[in-house]
Amino acid sequence: MEYKIEIEKMDHFGRGIGKINNKIIFVPHTVKGDIVVVKIVKDKKKFYEGEVIQYSKKTPRIKLCPYSNVCGGCSFIDIDYKEQLKIKIEKIKDLFQKELGISIEIEEVISDSNTNYRNKIRLHGKNKKLGFYKEKTNDLVTIDECIISKDEINSIMKRLNLIIDNNMDEVMIRSNKEVMLDIKGSISKDIVLHHFKDIDTIYLNDFLIKGKGYITEDILGKTFMISNKSFFQVNTKICSKIFSKILNYLKTKNYHKALDLYCGVGVIGILISDYIDKVIGIEVIDTAIQDANQNKKLNKVNNIDFICDKVENRIHEFQDIDLIIVDPPRSGLDKKSLSSIIKMNPETIIYISCNPNTLIRDLKEMLIRYKIESFFMADMFPNTYHVECVALLGRK
Ligand SMILES: C[S@@+](CC[C@H](N)C(=O)[O-])C[C@H]1O[C@@H](n2cnc3c(N)ncnc32)[C@H](O)[C@@H]1O
Repeated sequence: MEYKIEIEKMDHFGRGIGKINNKIIFVPHTVKGDIVVVKIVKDKKKFYEGEVIQYSKKTPRIKLCPYSNVCGGCSFIDIDYKEQLKIKIEKIKDLFQKELGISIEIEEVISDSNTNYRNKIRLHGKNKKLGFYKEKTNDLVTIDECIISKDEINSIMKRLNLIIDNNMDEVMIRSNKEVMLDIKGSISKDIVLHHFKDIDTIYLNDFLIKGKGYITEDILGKTFMISNKSFFQVNTKICSKIFSKILNYLKTKNYHKALDLYCGVGVIGILISDYIDKVIGIEVIDTAIQDANQNKKLNKVNNIDFICDKVENRIHEFQDIDLIIVDPPRSGLDKKSLSSIIKMNPETIIYISCNPNTLIRDLKEMLIRYKIESFFMADMFPNTYHVECVALLGRK
C-alpha cells in the first residue's frame, strides 16, 4: 500500500518524519517540506519506517556532494548547514528533557567550515576499485572526491585512482601537518613508492616502507605525534576550539591531581599539564600510549604519567583526584568506571562525548551527586548526524 505524506520535521539521524493516520513514519532521504509517496517497510508498535516511492514535491536541496545518499557517509549533506545545526541542538535539548527532565542551557555551539574538515579517511577496495561502502551494505561506491575531507586527502585519492589496476583492499589516508598513507593489498612496494614520493610516511601491509612511521599535528601551541594505529580527532580545528574552551575554564581553577581517561596520544593531558600539578592518562591502545610518551618528551612535560590499560582495570587505584576528564568511545563509560569515578568524588568532572545517548545514560548516574555547571556542543562532524558535547560537572 502507498501513502502520500508531508515531511513535517527531521529526526536525529537525518530522516524525515511524517504521519500516516496519526502514527509517525521515519523516511530516509527526505527533508522537511517534501511531499512524498511512501511505502511502509517496517510496522513497529509506536512508529513505521518507510521508503520513498516518488517525490511529489521536493524541498530544494543543497547539492554539495555527487554521492549524497549513496556512499553512506553524510546523512545531513543535502540539508542547509544552519538547519543541520538547528536539528542537532533540538536533538540535544529533546534528549535532556526526555531522559533527564532538564531544560539544558547550551552555552555555545562551536562550529567552523562544514566542508574539507576531515583529516583522515579509510577507503575500501574491491575488484580493482576504491571507495566507500554504500549505506548499510558492503557494496562499493567508487569515489574520487569527498567534500568533507581535506583537499590534500582528495588529491591523494585522485592519484590512487590512477593506479587502481593494482589490488588495494584498504587505504587509510591521514593528513595533519604531514601526510600518512597506510595501504593493505597486493600492490607492490615499488609502485607505491614511485607514485607517492611526496608522502611523508607510508605503511604497506603493516610494514613501514617510507618515513618515520608517524606524522605530527600542532594543537594550541603543542606538537603531537600520531602513529597509524592511534586515535586522533578527525577535525583538528574544532577539537582545538573545544580544548581551548576547557583550558580557559581550568585557568580559573586550582586543581592538583587530574585523570585524563581514554587519553589517546595524550593531547588533553599534555594540554592541561601546564595548569595542574600532576596528570595521569589512561588508554588501552599501546601504540597510542607510545605516542603519548613521545609527546610528553616532545613538549617537555614532566608532570604526567601514561598508563596502557583499560580504564575499568585501573580506575580504582587513584586517590585525591580533584579533576577527571573523560573522553570515551561511542559506547560511553562502562558501569565499573562510572561508579568508581562518582565514588572518587572529584571536585570537577569534564565529560567529552561523541554520543549523546551514552552521555545522557551516564549523566543520569552522575547527576545524583553532581550538577551541570556548564554545557556546550561542537559540530565536529558537519553533514553527518554526529555531534560532540561537553558537560562540565561540579559537586552538588
Ligand atoms: C574518543 S577517543 C579520545 C582520545 C583523546 N582523548 C583525544 O582527544 O585524542 C577514545 C579513546 O579511548 C580509547 N579506549 C577505548 N576503550 C577504552 C578503554 N576501555 N580503556 C581505555 N581506553 C579506551 C580508544 O583507543 C581511543 O583512543
